[in-house]
Amino acid sequence: MEKILITGGAGYIGSHTAVALVESGYQPIIVDDFSNSEKNVLEGLKKITGQSIPCYEGDCNDRSLLEKIFSEHALAGVIHFAAYKAVGESTEKPLKYYGNNIFSLLALLETMEKFGVENLVFSSSCTVYGQPDELPVKESTPRKVAESPYGNTKKICEDILVDQVRSQAKLAAIALRYFNPIGAHPSSHIGELPIGVPSNLVPFVTQTGVGIRKELTVFGDDYNTPDGSCVRDYIHVMDLAEAHVKAISYLRGKNAPFYDLFNVGTGTGNTVLEVIQAFEKVSEQPLNYKIGPRRPGDVEKVWADTGKITRELDWHPHYTLEDSLRDSWNWQLALSKKPA
Ligand code: NAD
Ligand code: WQD
Repeated sequence: MEKILITGGAGYIGSHTAVALVESGYQPIIVDDFSNSEKNVLEGLKKITGQSIPCYEGDCNDRSLLEKIFSEHALAGVIHFAAYKAVGESTEKPLKYYGNNIFSLLALLETMEKFGVENLVFSSSCTVYGQPDELPVKESTPRKVAESPYGNTKKICEDILVDQVRSQAKLAAIALRYFNPIGAHPSSHIGELPIGVPSNLVPFVTQTGVGIRKELTVFGDDYNTPDGSCVRDYIHVMDLAEAHVKAISYLRGKNAPFYDLFNVGTGTGNTVLEVIQAFEKVSEQPLNYKIGPRRPGDVEKVWADTGKITRELDWHPHYTLEDSLRDSWNWQLALSKKPA
């Protein structure tokens, strides 16, 4: 069975990708420092997959830990999720973000080179497009100056991969630019675990739904969109997980040096108010919300052109917006039942 290292594998997207890898016959190995995740994620993974996924607790910046993992396992590839992702915090603590997100990629690339592991899938983000001039946004659409240090780390990491491949290094890499991941595994054994007050829409919605938050504020209804609220491309996390499996399998058929990048979204944009309506439908209850001012730095509208990933990786999203919100809601209900 081919082994794939998942850095940040206890996190939101990494844990769902571990499930998708097992379902496709790969053996995932996790490394995570649990700076933004909890150890009981591993129990959730065991309930879903029926197996204990090997997990190393530690920091991906720690080269000796990486070397230990690479010497204990013959890896067919690596999926690099480990990073800090809070956009707001990154503007207050830029060095924390540049330090972790960039140095962990460097440590990983050096270790991969040392052990002759060629295949890498990297977590990038639609944040690199900012407010694009054309919609839907294609991979060839120019990137914009990053709005946040977090967004800049994604641009810099993409550039590092391009330069490393241009240098003729033995690296075959794919950057996946995720749009807005939501949802949870349909079993409700794993899902998103926001720490503190969520800044992302869907966790705020579901927390409001169970009464942890009093009220959701819609950040602006005077944008140039169908109902005035912002438009995003919300993608179910299991569809996103599947894109990683497709990317890793695709890389197995490529010779290093190789680099490519793909959007991962549904290809459809939905407004904030449409998300609220869909949530009210699946949760069968009204949501307490009000319209507030715009959030500084928000992009008005963005959604993906998914033609490239569909054509080249044969990847298709399967879940609808309602499916995604139903799984987010069931996950929230399961979390609320768990003892604190
Ligand atoms: P997450 O915080 O849930 O998962 C990241 C995991 O990495 C966490 O478990 C954390 O403990 C771990 N981690 C962080 N730094 C580490 C380090 N130095 N060593 C070891 N482990 C470390 O985040 P997520 O939502 O699963 O995001 C995964 C990746 O996808 C990130 O790179 C993020 O920037 C990117 N991304 C996320 C979104 C999103 O909206 N969730 C969108 C686009 C891109
Ligand atoms: C979605 C929409 C808000 C909360 C962020 C990162 C980006 C990427 C994806 C990692 C927006 C509105 C939100 C609320 C609201 N992550 N909203 N009330 O802004 O698309 O992007 O996640 O790479 O880098 O910036 O996602 O979930 O924060 O917001 O009205 O309480 O919901 O204005 O229109 P966003 P989000």
